[in-house]
Amino acid sequence: MAINIRNVSKLYPAKAEGGGELRALDDVTLHVSTGEWLAVMGPSGSGKSTLVNIIGCLDRPSSGEVSIGGEELAQFSRAQLDRFRAEKIGFIFQQFHLIPYLTALENVMLAQYFHSMTDEAEALAALERVGLRGRARHLPAHLSGGEQQRVCIARALINDPQIILADEPTGNLDAQNEEIVLHLLRQFHNQGRTIVMVTHDPAVARLADRKVELHHGHVAEQESFKFSDEEQFCAASARAPFRRRAAARMHCPRADQ
Ligand SMILES: Nc1ncnc2c1ncn2[C@@H]1O[C@H](COP(=O)(O)OP(=O)(O)OP(=O)(O)O)[C@@H](O)[C@H]1O
Ligand SMILES: [Mg+2]
Repeated sequence: MAINIRNVSKLYPAKAEGGGELRALDDVTLHVSTGEWLAVMGPSGSGKSTLVNIIGCLDRPSSGEVSIGGEELAQFSRAQLDRFRAEKIGFIFQQFHLIPYLTALENVMLAQYFHSMTDEAEALAALERVGLRGRARHLPAHLSGGEQQRVCIARALINDPQIILADEPTGNLDAQNEEIVLHLLRQFHNQGRTIVMVTHDPAVARLADRKVELHHGHVAEQESFKFSDEEQFCAASARAPFRRRAAARMHCPRADQ
């Protein structure tokens, strides 16, 4: 499913004295192709989460248009947007956003509920795919951060979404869990899903097909990753296993050889 963003701005009332408006997004035009993995980078406050929330139908732009899979989001009512999001989009957040008094299994099944189809076996299978079937009956507080993020990913996947939106999905994880989560994202990419991933880590961004850099709410820079970048990437790949695997994908000589 392709995402088409045309001249999108998002304005908030400025809190500072003197009033006025803060342009969280400032005339952003961006096309993400079906099956593309896009990394979004940029300083804190540059509008990355605002962009992801607008693509994810959690928020509407102040001006401009967004279409997903050819559907203009502006034409949808709030209820239609909620349904569209539940069916087409999976979210992975830095802060997990699990419901604390529900078990891992119930958290996954809650997303099914919004899809109006509750199926415990399917939710268990989703937890199994992220290696957590054995932890299905645990509350989030009894899971590690990495395990909570994997529950979040199982929940994002339960409705088989065509689009995955990941806002700093590895921001709170140690190296081992970062590796697991990036491996899962790689699988989703190979399955042809469209991924928009916010990250502060250039080596994580390097796993994507393309990177855009936001500055003060507008696209300051774009870079497509091609084989010509191989050398630079091979150097970065020495730092962690996922980077070595990414290097292999780029046909680099093994970084540890
Ligand atoms: N609901 C809101 N009301 C007012 N201002 C907001 C709101 N949401 C975001 N902003 C402002 O919009 C700007 C962009 O915020 P956004 O969360 O998109 O940044 P970000 O690039 O995701 O930053 P970070 O890397 O810190 O997560 C910031 O200046 C922020 O304070
Ligand atoms: Mg953010």
